[in-house]
Amino acid sequence: MVETSDQWIRSRTGICERHLANPQGSLSAIAATAAQQALAMADIRASDLDLIVLATSTPDDLFGCASQVQALLGASNAVAFDLTAACSGFVFGLVTASQFIRTGVYRNVLLIGADILSRWVDWSDRSTCVLFGDGAGAVVLQANESDRLLGFEMRSDGTQNSCLRLGYDGQVQEIVKGVTITQGCYKPITMNGKEVYRFAVQKVPEVIDKALFWANMTTDQIDWLVLHQANQRILDAVAGRLNIPTHKVLSNLSHYGNTSAASIPLVLDEAVRQEKIKPGDIIATSGFGAGLSWGCAIFQWGR
Ligand code: UT7
Repeated sequence: MVETSDQWIRSRTGICERHLANPQGSLSAIAATAAQQALAMADIRASDLDLIVLATSTPDDLFGCASQVQALLGASNAVAFDLTAACSGFVFGLVTASQFIRTGVYRNVLLIGADILSRWVDWSDRSTCVLFGDGAGAVVLQANESDRLLGFEMRSDGTQNSCLRLGYDGQVQEIVKGVTITQGCYKPITMNGKEVYRFAVQKVPEVIDKALFWANMTTDQIDWLVLHQANQRILDAVAGRLNIPTHKVLSNLSHYGNTSAASIPLVLDEAVRQEKIKPGDIIATSGFGAGLSWGCAIFQWGR
């Protein structure tokens, strides 16, 4: 469709393949599938859930899609809401969900990261259409005697919003004489790739350092670095700046591309199922992207 090559995409991004959602499917359906697998792994029932947080920027319904996931799961005792923070959504969701556990109000929280960016990609723009894939991943967070969220830092900078947008575009209409409104729709994704790349490589190491500071830890105590899977060069550069060896950096973007809010739970899930991540391991996870927004959570994995 566009002038590009497999070689360019592999060498500039590390992406070899990605997945597209079934056009007959929905965001709620793929989110619910991921959620069911997380519930099975945690060995709890949907009815045990107190809260469902769905991190997504591509809901089926702009009013929110989390309650549809709740209905699909039959999680009738939970309250469910969407959280929109693009590629930072999973990390922001992790921190948000943890606050409800810390305060003691909820014990079982389901956090889902899911996006179908293929709905919003401009398939004639080679600078973005080669990057994104669709996906969903989920984790269950549970109350425990010890607080497993060891430190976090979240940031945003709206002055750089134009670097990465999926913006509303409305036409002005006069509905009755003297009363105007706008109606329209969202326009496909636009991105200044170079600027976002620069931003990520500078800000992500800073925010990880800050979260480590709050956790009273140093980089050598990190067992796994789990970054938003945007570009292999970004993963390598961030790990390099923090002096974190490559074997501690989880990467699966070659198989999925950039799946926005889904990328971190997808890579976490694979590493847990492959028994790379073991109970007690310290994980530094960082999401970054549109907003611009970025954040890091340091947490300990386990039951
Ligand atoms: O999830 C949200 C966060 N998003 C990100 O983290 C994305 C961050 N940015 C990136 O990952 C990279 O900037 C890209 C992968 C998007 C682009 O890589 P780059 O090395 O920064 O390429 P560039 O934009 O500097 O473009 C280099 C050249 C240009 O051609 P000229 O001007 O040098 O002749 C582009 O027109 O590559 C060209 N180009 C392409 N060529 C073949 C851009 N896209 C393509 C393409 N195929 N798909």
